[in-house]
Amino acid sequence: MEINIKRLTEEEFNKFAKLIYEESGIFLKETKITLLSNRLRKRLQPLNLKEFSEYYDYLQKLTGEQRKKEYEMLLDVVSTNETYFFRNERHFDALTQICIPELVKIKKNRKLRIWSAACSTGEEPYTIAICVLENMHLLNGWDIQILGTDIAPSVLDFARIGEYSGRRIEKVPPKFLEKYFIPKKDEPGVYAVKDELKKLTNFYYLNFFKDRFPVDMDVIFCRNVMIYFDKIYQRRLVADFYKSINDTGYLFIGHSETLHSISEDFEYRKILESPVYIPKARK
Ligand SMILES: C[S@@+](CC[C@H](N)C(=O)[O-])C[C@H]1O[C@@H](n2cnc3c(N)ncnc32)[C@H](O)[C@@H]1O
Repeated sequence: MEINIKRLTEEEFNKFAKLIYEESGIFLKETKITLLSNRLRKRLQPLNLKEFSEYYDYLQKLTGEQRKKEYEMLLDVVSTNETYFFRNERHFDALTQICIPELVKIKKNRKLRIWSAACSTGEEPYTIAICVLENMHLLNGWDIQILGTDIAPSVLDFARIGEYSGRRIEKVPPKFLEKYFIPKKDEPGVYAVKDELKKLTNFYYLNFFKDRFPVDMDVIFCRNVMIYFDKIYQRRLVADFYKSINDTGYLFIGHSETLHSISEDFEYRKILESPVYIPKARK
């Protein structure tokens, strides 16, 4: 039997938007009512619920582990996860040619920590891993970790599997496709990242506004995610990045994002035509 699910009413939309905002910082304008209806429907079906209001009431009643799990599923369907390898490739030129060699000169403890904050399906941290491996002649014997974190469990599962096709790998230079990927024999056009990329990379769940941040980060990529937050949450996020990043670190944000009127803690620099932020001296 087909279940006929309506579109969210304005009142329902406002209730869900408030709840999503409080849980994740994701700010949904009223123009997103159809988008949110379509995304929430993905949760109604497995829970066998007919009305959005029933789902809202269900969410209110949950406690403990069950609440945690369902809210994760909710944010999983609500979040926008668009990404691909070598997105805004100039960032990766800056990372490979300038930032990593600079860090190698400066860091005495021979540890390199790079965080892809809001990594979605893994293309960004694996692209970073390629940049690191391209610098391996400088990094021999270094302790290297690339963290990929996100709020959506399904994208983290996808990232851990590490198999990509189509638009996701369109921008991978052919020499890197050959060097760092294995074509899947039984699935034409699908490429699996090689183990050497996987070994450098760890994925785990992290909600920017609920969970603790990793510390001692040399490089943070937080691209194309701040656009989903309002100024209050953007300020909070960047203030937390400042605590997380080393004095000699680099923060990369998306090309359509800015720290102007968000944070005074970072200084804007252009490295190889690419916008990068450097932490200012701590008071
Ligand atoms: C458009 S993707 C960006 C992926 C990648 N950084 C890039 O630039 O290609 C945005 C990601 O932010 C994640 N996200 C949204 N709100 C978040 C939050 N509060 N904490 C952590 N991740 C969040 C989403 O799940 C989504 O995967």
